[in-house]
Amino acid sequence: MTNQPLLRALRGDTVLPPPVWLMRQAGRYLPEYRALRKKARNFLHFCYTPELAVEATLQPVKRFGLDAAILFSDILTVPDALGVEMAFKEGEGPVLQPVDPERDLDRLDASALCEKLAPVYQAAAEVKRALAPETALIGFAGAPWTVAAYMLEGRTSRDYLVARRAMARSPDAFVGLIDLLVRATVDHLSAQIEAGADVVQLFESWSSVLNPAARRRWSIDPIEKIIQGVRAAHPDAPIIVFPRGAGVQIVDYAEAEPDGVGIDTATPLDRTGLPNDMCLQGNLDPAILIEGGEALKAATLAMVARMRGRPYIANLGHGVDLNTPPDHVAAFVDHVRHAGELSGDIGG
Ligand code: CP3
Repeated sequence: MTNQPLLRALRGDTVLPPPVWLMRQAGRYLPEYRALRKKARNFLHFCYTPELAVEATLQPVKRFGLDAAILFSDILTVPDALGVEMAFKEGEGPVLQPVDPERDLDRLDASALCEKLAPVYQAAAEVKRALAPETALIGFAGAPWTVAAYMLEGRTSRDYLVARRAMARSPDAFVGLIDLLVRATVDHLSAQIEAGADVVQLFESWSSVLNPAARRRWSIDPIEKIIQGVRAAHPDAPIIVFPRGAGVQIVDYAEAEPDGVGIDTATPLDRTGLPNDMCLQGNLDPAILIEGGEALKAATLAMVARMRGRPYIANLGHGVDLNTPPDHVAAFVDHVRHAGELSGDIGG
């Protein structure tokens, strides 16, 4: 048995009040993060310095009393560990040396991944030791398509046309890249669990740009393989999948058999088509969190009320925006915790 509300929800319990955390809960909207960030040479150095990563992970948990900490790191540490040259540029985001799957696969080396990412696992172990037993530690990785999209495109893009054309032109080469990322991701998630992560989440941030056949082949199937691989070694660690922008195909991600599914802002929480015993997570609009006040209270209460009677984790439908006043996050957590009482529900 576990006393972590997050784990109980992911194992299928209806938990009242629901556990709550926020995607991108650590970051530049927090003054204490901005102060800490100055101590690192650059963003990757920040991610690979356990002392800094541990502190950044704990900051939002200390401030807001959340039910989970998400390890401070990035989905692009995996291509970095595979040997892709990259930098995070101020105001521009990540810039990577673009990979051509028809030419460059031999140059990517997954064998030393866990060695290169050892500081990430060290940070996870230290966070775990610092957390109260009822607070879950979430490890994470990007899903293969989303990571491949950055590797092929070399930067953030609106439509990822370079990457989508590559999968159409040479699916055989694309299989090679996706399979490599599946193996690397199983290793990376397993190492985080071994270091102390209670739960792991796969971010499929760019499910939105895939056509239905591509979404099946390059997103859902690889995610299924990752879940099988991680579960074979770690049957007790729940896995959450967040396929942002999957539309009506969100229901097909159930075939990968995750323990929980993150729902984006555009999808009605009560019309996903996902099984009633599968834990849902989400999906408050980050814009409402920036606004705060009565709009935030009404939207949060309505969201929690809609999810009564099923396993559920309160969260946003996308990451916390840079312009979010920290006090609004505190108010959000408070509204979630009191939602049952206010709707005349005793809870428990
Ligand atoms: O609090 C947390 O959620 C934990 C840490 C975390 C970060 N990135 C830290 C970060 C997590 C879970 C991520 C995931 C991530 N990274 C995703 C998936 C979620 C999503 O947003 O769709 C993606 C696509 C990335 C890639 C990435 N990293 C981009 C595009 C950028 C630049 C844009 C931006 O938001 O600044 C980053 C940088 C990044 N990752 C920052 C943080 C706090 C900001 C960099 C800084 O502080 O200088």
